[in-house]
Amino acid sequence: MALSNATQGAIILSAFFLPILTYIYFTRSPQQKNAAGPLPPPTEITALLIHPIKSCHGISVQSAKLLPTGLDLDRQWMWVTYPDYEFLTIRQNSRMTLIRTSYDAKTDTLTVTAPAPNTIDEKLEFSIPAHPSEDWLSSNTESHGAKIWNKWTSSCVYSTDLTAPFNRFFGKEVRLVYKPPFSNDPRTLASNGAKQVLGRDASTCFPDLMPLLVGNESSIDELNTRLKAAENITIDIRRFRPNIIVRGDANAPWDEDRWKTLKITPKSGKGSITLDITQRCARCHVPNVDPDTAEEHKRQPWDTLMKYRRIDEGITFKPCYGMLCVPRETGELKVGMNFEVTEVTDKHRYITGF
Ligand SMILES: *[C@@H]1O[C@H](CO)[C@@H](O)[C@H](O)[C@H]1NC(C)=O
Ligand SMILES: *[C@@H]1O[C@H](CO)[C@@H](O)[C@H](O)[C@H]1NC(C)=O
Repeated sequence: MALSNATQGAIILSAFFLPILTYIYFTRSPQQKNAAGPLPPPTEITALLIHPIKSCHGISVQSAKLLPTGLDLDRQWMWVTYPDYEFLTIRQNSRMTLIRTSYDAKTDTLTVTAPAPNTIDEKLEFSIPAHPSEDWLSSNTESHGAKIWNKWTSSCVYSTDLTAPFNRFFGKEVRLVYKPPFSNDPRTLASNGAKQVLGRDASTCFPDLMPLLVGNESSIDELNTRLKAAENITIDIRRFRPNIIVRGDANAPWDEDRWKTLKITPKSGKGSITLDITQRCARCHVPNVDPDTAEEHKRQPWDTLMKYRRIDEGITFKPCYGMLCVPRETGELKVGMNFEVTEVTDKHRYITGF
């Protein structure tokens, strides 16, 4: 039977266009048609945390400047061994969390304190400019490389006139080093932040990997119900040392595992800031340390996390909590700002190596 010209035309047209239309339909809006599911509802920033010295006690702030390298005053300082200049962290010495830093905005000064060994009356203490000028640095510090994860990066070393009392705290000779957030020799991101993966040059000061760590409260709540059942304990989100904490509702914990792009918007609605999520944050034993007492729990939360949070194919031997990000824009972040996930993905995969 001969088909009419019109029918023939229709068959040819649909054979030709149907796959194209189907393709367009499924790829048209990656945000609505994503294997990773629909976008979560907007929420808000509930806390901002900075940790001026790597691995030392953090400070909760109401607002913070976001720089290309991360939050201003976050992990721009670091303790290193002497004479090797290797980074020191809670991983080797949980007592480092007893070193506290306070910031005085009036004088733009950071004061660093620690309990002195073998006494309860004495405190070790020194103060330094929080935003040292190049002149101040060239007359008060020396340049020397510092080693972090087997890689060297340039740094400014403070005089032992200031820091020598802290040798007693560490029980060995140490140095304090500083990495300016704007440096001629930036510490370029590796892993999922490397240029060929991220698509642009980005750097940070002394975080392990990326400029920012974002955490969702409801995931810690869910973890705490497990810890309560296992050992009758609960832990504070600060153990995970995040920078930005957002509120969640308790219905779908660990929603952040699939976040890809984030948008933070001031209450005024003007000047939003975009963050690119590079990867999930794979954890070590640091969250076992209570940041207020430096006591290290023998098992938790590590054992519990290992049971159900080894979820990243790229790093199956470690549990994940929180999402690592690189800012696309800079600006001022404040508690209460609107926080939106604008893109989700099912393609996160951790690239190991620093
Ligand atoms: C759990 O811990 C709380 C507070 O530390 C204590 O009051 C309570 O008796 C404990 N419950 C059990 C079942 O051990
Ligand atoms: C945080 O987690 C909760 C529970 O999983 C979820 O409902 C909420 O949407 C999450 N927040 C964001 C910004 O996705």
